[in-house]
Amino acid sequence: MVLVSGRGSNLQALMEAIQRGVIHGRIAAVIANRPGAHALERARRAGVTERLLDHRVFASREAFDRALAALIDEYAPHLVVMAGFMRILTPAFIARFRGRMLNIHPSLLPAFPGLNTHQRAIAAGVSEHGATVHFVTDEVDGGPPVVQARVAVRPGESPETLAARVLAQEHQIFPEAVAWFCSGRLQLVDGLPQLDGRPLERPLQRTED
Ligand code: GAR
Repeated sequence: MVLVSGRGSNLQALMEAIQRGVIHGRIAAVIANRPGAHALERARRAGVTERLLDHRVFASREAFDRALAALIDEYAPHLVVMAGFMRILTPAFIARFRGRMLNIHPSLLPAFPGLNTHQRAIAAGVSEHGATVHFVTDEVDGGPPVVQARVAVRPGESPETLAARVLAQEHQIFPEAVAWFCSGRLQLVDGLPQLDGRPLERPLQRTED
């Protein structure tokens, strides 16, 4: 199950990894919270079930999350993947899918949670930026991290070029982490990710080639 809000390039990377046999699984459905999300078009083209649940028609965050949980439950997925799903989720929703929900965020968490991460990283003058795949818990963009991709910030770099370089890394580490989960290698145990039975006190690190 993949949740999306927009462009869907991470969804595309996941679908291609399934196609190539890198991820042993299938996407039961793609759910978007925004009509017109390009990700829905990508799902349709790939023959994956697409569903729209427009958050604007719900009176409250709780009501939307209840409907979203019910829609997800229709498919009984093993894993819920947030691929550019731009919603803050309620604690009840998160508790329900705890240990089986992964998110990708475009920064080296805990640095730069929230929006406009590339611009903020450049403004802060950091030498390294990147992306993090993490299990979703109550903190916004702050659950236990599994894997990070590090990208060196080049002198004079624009937020756009940095975003593109980070996105290319996202397309590597997200399918990698989802593949681990789908083959039973990755789990959340007592609040800590475990890979092949080994607790990950710190996330695995990948670097740009
Ligand atoms: C990605 O960069 C992802 O890391 C980010 O949204 C983008 C979605 O792109 N997610 C977040 O910021 C979550 N806090 P995509 O729709 O092309 O995959």
